[in-house]
Amino acid sequence: MTKKILLIAGDGIGPEVVGQAKKIIDFFDKNTDKKFECENALLGGCAYDAVKTPFPSETLELAKKSDAILLGAVGGPKWESLDYSVRPERGLLGIRKELELFANLRPAKVFDALVDSSTLKKEVVENLDIMIVRELTGDLYFGEPRGVETLADGTRRGFNTMTYTSGEVERIAIVAFELAKKRGKKLCSIDKANVIETTEMWREVVSEIGAKKYPDIALSHMYVDNASMQLVRNPKQFDVMLTGNMFGDILSDTASMLTGSLGMLPSASLGAKINGRQHALYEPIHGSAPDIAGKNVANPIATISSLSMMFRYSFDYKKEADAIDKAIENVLNNGHRTADIATSLQNKISCTQMGDEILKEITKIL
Ligand code: IPM
Ligand code: MG
Repeated sequence: MTKKILLIAGDGIGPEVVGQAKKIIDFFDKNTDKKFECENALLGGCAYDAVKTPFPSETLELAKKSDAILLGAVGGPKWESLDYSVRPERGLLGIRKELELFANLRPAKVFDALVDSSTLKKEVVENLDIMIVRELTGDLYFGEPRGVETLADGTRRGFNTMTYTSGEVERIAIVAFELAKKRGKKLCSIDKANVIETTEMWREVVSEIGAKKYPDIALSHMYVDNASMQLVRNPKQFDVMLTGNMFGDILSDTASMLTGSLGMLPSASLGAKINGRQHALYEPIHGSAPDIAGKNVANPIATISSLSMMFRYSFDYKKEADAIDKAIENVLNNGHRTADIATSLQNKISCTQMGDEILKEITKIL
């Protein structure tokens, strides 16, 4: 059966990195029994430029009809002075919300070949393999009321609402527990239960589910400030980390740097399964990197790994996903590096060359 993939290249380096993943999709389509049909859609700043909204309704329609979405990145200085409601980021948040992509999986894995690219000591990050499960459709990101108001004395007051229902906590906790079951059977839930009531409730709900349904998973809880410190002190103590939207945004950037570069981390954003159909969006966790956009120097590995996650989670194409992962590893072992992960000793290559090298390895593996 042909799989429909919606490509949303977005802004900045988005088109360059998605272009590399597209080469790999085309390769599988032409040379294997896996068939794909790709469409393109606008989101973010490029959408605003074209049709004056960062989230065109046409994009939503195409997204709903697709089997999976691959997204590059959105945003850039060009659109920073726009009103909040039409900023590129609203497009990304909009699509997450509309498709109810509540479960964001952000794996941080250190490749042997890249241990020395991390700013941390080798023994701290060697063999690191953690999975951050971030709730993606609630919390401060979407809570109401929100805004900035002008007070009687002319000063301003900004306000946002941190909110979670127990149901929202429960469904993301189940995703995390299920992943922990397939991995190291260890789950650490992050909160700020000593100060923030919402997260105290978060802790209670996670504990209840753990006790009732997952007695075999070693569940622990950690305050977010401590977690940010532990992630750089001793990241290998973690297996699966469960977080809300805001804390997860911050902690996943920290985790990415353990692997050497923000350019290495893929992600999957999964919705609920409704009538056997599950919306899913795959994207690198790095941003649009406007400073290097259009220069063909970006690292496409996070995007290509995101494609591998798509094959694995949305299509159950294990062999193909394994081939992509192995190809990335081989290319790194062969010494190829994009600028972000290169040391002076290594063979520095461009974004398109990295795409070609990975594709070459895939053809060898299959
Ligand atoms: C991320 C990004 C987004 C977020 C931005 C671009 C809206 O930082 O995916 O982590 O804050 O979720
Ligand atoms: Mg972020």
